[in-house]
Amino acid sequence: MCGIVAYIGAGQAQPILLEGLKRLEYRGYDSAGVAILDSAGLRVARSVGRVAKLEEKLEDLGGFRGTVGLAHTRWATHGSVTETNAHPHRDDRAGISIVHNGIIENYAAVKKYLQERGHRFQTETDTEVLAMLIGELYEGDLESAVQAALREVTGAYAIVVMCEREPDVLVAARKGSPLMLGIGNGEYVVASDPSAIVAHTTQAIALDDYNVARISRDGFRTSTIDNVEVTPKVMQLELDLEQIELGDYPHYMIKEIFEQPAALRNTMRGRMDTNEGKVVLGGLDSFAKELVRARKIILTAQGTALHAAMIGEYLLEDLAKIPCECEYASEFRYRNPIIDEGTVVIAVSQSGETADTLAALHEAKDRGALALGVVNSVGSTIARETDAGVYLRVGPEIGVASTKAFTGQVAVLTLVSMFMARRRFMSPEASARLIGEMEQIPGKIEKVLELDDEINRVTEKYVERNNWLFLGRGYNYPTAMEGALKLKEISYIHAEGMPAAEMKHGPIALIDEGMPVVFIANQGNQYEKVINNIEEVRSRGGHVIAVATEGDERIRAVAQDVIEVPEVSDCLSPLVTVVPLQLMAYHAAVLRGHDVDKPRNLAKSVTVE
Ligand code: F6R
Repeated sequence: MCGIVAYIGAGQAQPILLEGLKRLEYRGYDSAGVAILDSAGLRVARSVGRVAKLEEKLEDLGGFRGTVGLAHTRWATHGSVTETNAHPHRDDRAGISIVHNGIIENYAAVKKYLQERGHRFQTETDTEVLAMLIGELYEGDLESAVQAALREVTGAYAIVVMCEREPDVLVAARKGSPLMLGIGNGEYVVASDPSAIVAHTTQAIALDDYNVARISRDGFRTSTIDNVEVTPKVMQLELDLEQIELGDYPHYMIKEIFEQPAALRNTMRGRMDTNEGKVVLGGLDSFAKELVRARKIILTAQGTALHAAMIGEYLLEDLAKIPCECEYASEFRYRNPIIDEGTVVIAVSQSGETADTLAALHEAKDRGALALGVVNSVGSTIARETDAGVYLRVGPEIGVASTKAFTGQVAVLTLVSMFMARRRFMSPEASARLIGEMEQIPGKIEKVLELDDEINRVTEKYVERNNWLFLGRGYNYPTAMEGALKLKEISYIHAEGMPAAEMKHGPIALIDEGMPVVFIANQGNQYEKVINNIEEVRSRGGHVIAVATEGDERIRAVAQDVIEVPEVSDCLSPLVTVVPLQLMAYHAAVLRGHDVDKPRNLAKSVTVE
């Protein structure tokens, strides 16, 4: 949600920190700040709004010169969006400054204790409490003070701390919120996301929970908060700068929508063998027996990932014939779920850091389930904490509205279903046929992308309307939910997605003259039923925008607008039908003048409950 970047080395910290903040801005962006140690001591600048505002402020201040510093872009959790509440925060005695992602849950009790000891607070934030606590415990060694403070707090944190009295040291730590240490040549970049590191180095370590890193220009040491030394595992970041740059596109969202054919080719590469009719998933091989014998699968996720998981539920039941449930991770984690022997839990997540999904995963593991991950971010917490998994391989997703990760998740869940199906009931012929069809999907998406201008024109007709419905059946009921979520999150138009049959049970009352109702009406298993639902909407004055199979004349007779997609089997259809919905949402947001990649109130990765 919030972003952290910190630097220590031989270079000037300010430009490195600002560039890092810009790369992290997509994670959360209501305020930003920077602290740099220069020869005169600690210099801090903070501002409400985007990183560009902070940059202007630094220019007005003449810039900070120094080779060690930390910076933050905030998405408010505790305390309103004000300059005072923006990070970095400071203590009132020892010259501590800190940036923090996460929430200190027992901050109120700690604050009371510190107030009794005479500390004076400037802000409403939990982070300032942590700064004061580190200051209170400081006895000349920052690393020890941080370790001691972290032994006293509960909650989640990724932090980087500096101290005026130790100007050549940064201390970083994490619990429940991601943090990486990029290892350069005589310089180090600490960040909550690899995108702020790769411009400097591709060697990094991902800190584990309760781990602390003490970093100086000469090297670093990792330990636990109880000061037990930890041997770091250095990894290679597989991210190149081009992947996280806009290129010729105006927004990341449209770039990522258009990247989908290439991304899915990557997802499938080397994982399907048409001749043998086999899906090959290295990550699952050693658990193949457990998967074949599985009695129940629970898919869990949030938001767009949940919609992909819902499609996964249909796929697993349909293809692999395994009873399957799909549930919001936030509900699953608190509802005392029954996990019998033979239960497999699959956590679906782009970032691999979503707090609720991670907690659901812990809950499932504690209850004895085999835990699998369908994750995009390599080395993320969920990826590391699952027993096994399959990466999406769609490349970094920067746009806050998830697009290529959604199709990547659906594609991977299709592969997982086929992996199990082939080992259970599916014949080699049926499997080979489906594999052949999967291989055609990227090309079919390319055909839909050619309709971009037409989709823009259709969107323009309805963009002033403030209420939309998205309806679909079977595999495309979750697609309808996803279409509605995309529209509301970036264009701020109220939209609801639901099974088409559900409309009659209440929502039909909303339909009035000209209300846009988007139907996913491809020629799938429930096509005739969808046509009936379209008639019901038409007879109440609703305007139907149908996503339909190429050449379908029947739909043209009943819908005001038709967006044609290539013919595709029902079980693979969401991979294609979702694309026009993504484009509609994108164009609606642009037409309404919104900041597509940074929608209000949203953050890319929701690392708090
Ligand atoms: C919407 C969106 C969110 C995420 C959700 C889960 O466009 O991106 O709904 O899908 O916050 O995030 P991950 O997949 O990172 O677990």
